[in-house]
Amino acid sequence: MAKIIDGKLISAQIKDELKEKVAKEHIKATLAVIQVGNDPASCVYVGNKKKACEYIGIGSRSYELPEETTEEELLDLVDRLNADDEIKGILVQLPLPKTIDEKKVINRISPDKDVDGFHPQSVGRLCIGEDGFVSCTPAGIIELLKRSGIPIEGRECTVIGRSNIVGKPMALLLLANNGTVTVCHSRTKDLKEICKRADILVVAVGKPKMITSEYIKEGAVVIDVGIHRTESGKLCGDVDYEDVLPHVSAITPVPGGVGPMTIAMLMVNCVKAAGF
Ligand code: GUN
Repeated sequence: MAKIIDGKLISAQIKDELKEKVAKEHIKATLAVIQVGNDPASCVYVGNKKKACEYIGIGSRSYELPEETTEEELLDLVDRLNADDEIKGILVQLPLPKTIDEKKVINRISPDKDVDGFHPQSVGRLCIGEDGFVSCTPAGIIELLKRSGIPIEGRECTVIGRSNIVGKPMALLLLANNGTVTVCHSRTKDLKEICKRADILVVAVGKPKMITSEYIKEGAVVIDVGIHRTESGKLCGDVDYEDVLPHVSAITPVPGGVGPMTIAMLMVNCVKAAGF
């Protein structure tokens, strides 16, 4: 029987641990959350992030800016928040409107307040094995594996997807945990054959139910980063869950797998930022 990795439960445990730490050590921190425009998915994510802050006992300050906000105005706000000692973490919800250069905004956030782990300094630290802020979704996946007793060391780990937010930091983290890492992407030839070698397969392709049992080695661990709404209104991942389930030793469901971990790890980063 496959183990269903319960991300909701594990994320709740992490948030409870943080809540206790914040109370016990009298940690004071405020997270600034900036949203430009009102993309419906972003509104849900931002709302959940603020709720998580309240739950663990740290502050949050919301900046809901209109779609027409200019790049300069946003950069000015980031500058002000960088200089504000009360603010320990700055989060700019992505995607930003097309008129704003995301890279420029990310690069402007002080590396000490980069709770998303997107700043080049954070990514560079991860790359060379120095302590720093790590992108929340891949960091959450490592936590899921560790807390489920799934070893990484020496195992064949395959990541499908090479985004700056998930695929690349995921590969670096698996490597840092002594996995043997392969990164696949849209130009990869023989994707099925490569995936079939994986002991741990992390799927972040952004295509509903693309990964079927044909891609899976018997007994593999499958981590599904995707989330999509089907025509019937149900949620599904990048993995064809029902098809794959009989062949895996462990799998994350959608919803309730990777998703809740992203916010738990953001809270880990906020508590860490309070120490600077
Ligand atoms: N948009 C989708 N995921 C994320 C995330 O983890 N952080 C930010 N800032 N924006 C996102």
